Amino acid sequence: MLELQGIHYQPATSEKVVLENIDLQVRYGKPAIIAGPSGSGKTSLVEIISGLAKPQRGTFYLEEQVLNQRQRRSHCGVVFQFPERHFLGLSIAQELRLGHRRLSGEQQSMALRRVGLANIDVRQAPERLSGGQQRRLAVAVQLLRNPKILLLDEPTAGLDWSVREEVLGLLAKISEQQILIVVTHEPELFKNWKVSEYSLLEGKLKNVSTLPKGQ
Ligand SMILES: Nc1ncnc2c1ncn2[C@@H]1O[C@H](COP(=O)(O)OP(=O)(O)O)[C@@H](O)[C@H]1O
Ligand SMILES: [Mg+2]
Repeated sequence: MLELQGIHYQPATSEKVVLENIDLQVRYGKPAIIAGPSGSGKTSLVEIISGLAKPQRGTFYLEEQVLNQRQRRSHCGVVFQFPERHFLGLSIAQELRLGHRRLSGEQQSMALRRVGLANIDVRQAPERLSGGQQRRLAVAVQLLRNPKILLLDEPTAGLDWSVREEVLGLLAKISEQQILIVVTHEPELFKNWKVSEYSLLEGKLKNVSTLPKGQ
């Protein structure tokens, strides 16, 4: 289980508090879906959990052990919003090697299998893949680092409806082996999942999965 206690974050460049006294617990098999409008602090929370940014106050625990910033970086995989805009590899194989420098053929096919891309030609450019396949590839790159925690920032943004289902199905599968945190402004997409739902509003996090629907 990943646990956040009392996280408080105000970047030096911000005049207001971005994350205020955040408490959160996330277990294997039960993803946390954190929903909030633009500017509510979703991306900041991803950056804080993954150790890319440092909060002023608060403690992180993984299996009851305190995690420092460096350990958070090594335990977290992050798929940022629109990951396909940041592909660097000239081929799919090269893109995968960015996630893992000494990648064996076996590891490569296992990662591709896990994201449902077992049958693609890895010599082609990542841009040749469809929108949904590109998102899957971005997830595969992160899985190669074998992170205990996987964070996704708006994983369905900009995708067609049919493709969204495909990406959601993949996340459901992944959540059995990784602690999964998804931030999104489209929480209704996840309504058929066994998830913990949170709302983030102006930097304050609230558990909404216990509330009756419509409140
Ligand atoms: N490094 C920073 N410097 C100044 N303001 C920031 C910084 N990071 C985030 N903010 C502000 O914090 C708020 C939340 O931003 P963000 O986490 O990107 O929200 P979201 O992802 O929900 O749209 C915004 O008002 C943003 O301008
Ligand atoms: Mg954002």
